[in-house]
Amino acid sequence: MASRFRVLMVLSSAAKFTTTGAPTGWYLPEFAHPYKVLSEIADITVVSPKGGFSQVDPGSVKNTATTDSLSHSFLRDNESVWSNTGKISDYIGRGKEFDVICHPGGHAPLFDLAEDNDLKTLISEVYEAGKIVAAICHGVIVLKDVKLSNGQYLVADAPVTGFSNEEEDKVGLTDACPVLVETELVKMGGRFEKSDAPFKAHVTVAHNGRLITGQNPASAPGFAEAIKQSLLKA
Ligand SMILES: *[C@@H]1O[C@H](CO)[C@@H](O)[C@H](O)[C@H]1NC(C)=O
Repeated sequence: MASRFRVLMVLSSAAKFTTTGAPTGWYLPEFAHPYKVLSEIADITVVSPKGGFSQVDPGSVKNTATTDSLSHSFLRDNESVWSNTGKISDYIGRGKEFDVICHPGGHAPLFDLAEDNDLKTLISEVYEAGKIVAAICHGVIVLKDVKLSNGQYLVADAPVTGFSNEEEDKVGLTDACPVLVETELVKMGGRFEKSDAPFKAHVTVAHNGRLITGQNPASAPGFAEAIKQSLLKA
């Protein structure tokens, strides 16, 4: 059997909105689906800015309680996965060891990963090693200001998606966000795409399968499958 792929999953260390004090964390299906699908074919390393425990967004647990048994079995059985994360800074220079770097959402990344220069370095390392960069929902904010060695933004001219400004308005959190995913992608010249109605699934695959983005929580299963397919054909 071929050797297993290697995946680096990046979580936030933020547990609260610094703006409002409301709890946040990773959005359950956006971590659970990629984790479960990719763990069949890959060894997965989980990291965060501070290392150690990374919190699940309690709202995401509630919102999916009756609709997503895969996510809830992950939450019940796999606590060690998010309790002992490594530190992003310890992986700088090791980007080429990974086939995928993947970023779940939840609002938490807006409060730390959005401005994490170690992470930006690591993302460009992975991409420039010919590997896959993936992000979903608010996790897509990690692409903010990420440049390649040719000086271009990674997302420049590329089709991309993420939690839309319309969706942020509809959940009433626009003013609580320090940065908005859609606004930042458009600023860098990303060709922002979204589903025909808010909160419906949409996944975008660009750069020959090496830049994969998902719009929102409903996109989590399709996002996970797109990463898997891209790995298997690489
Ligand atoms: C997740 O939980 C399942 C069920 O207990 C277990 O088989 C699997 O090894 C766990 N995976 C990790 C990475 O903890």
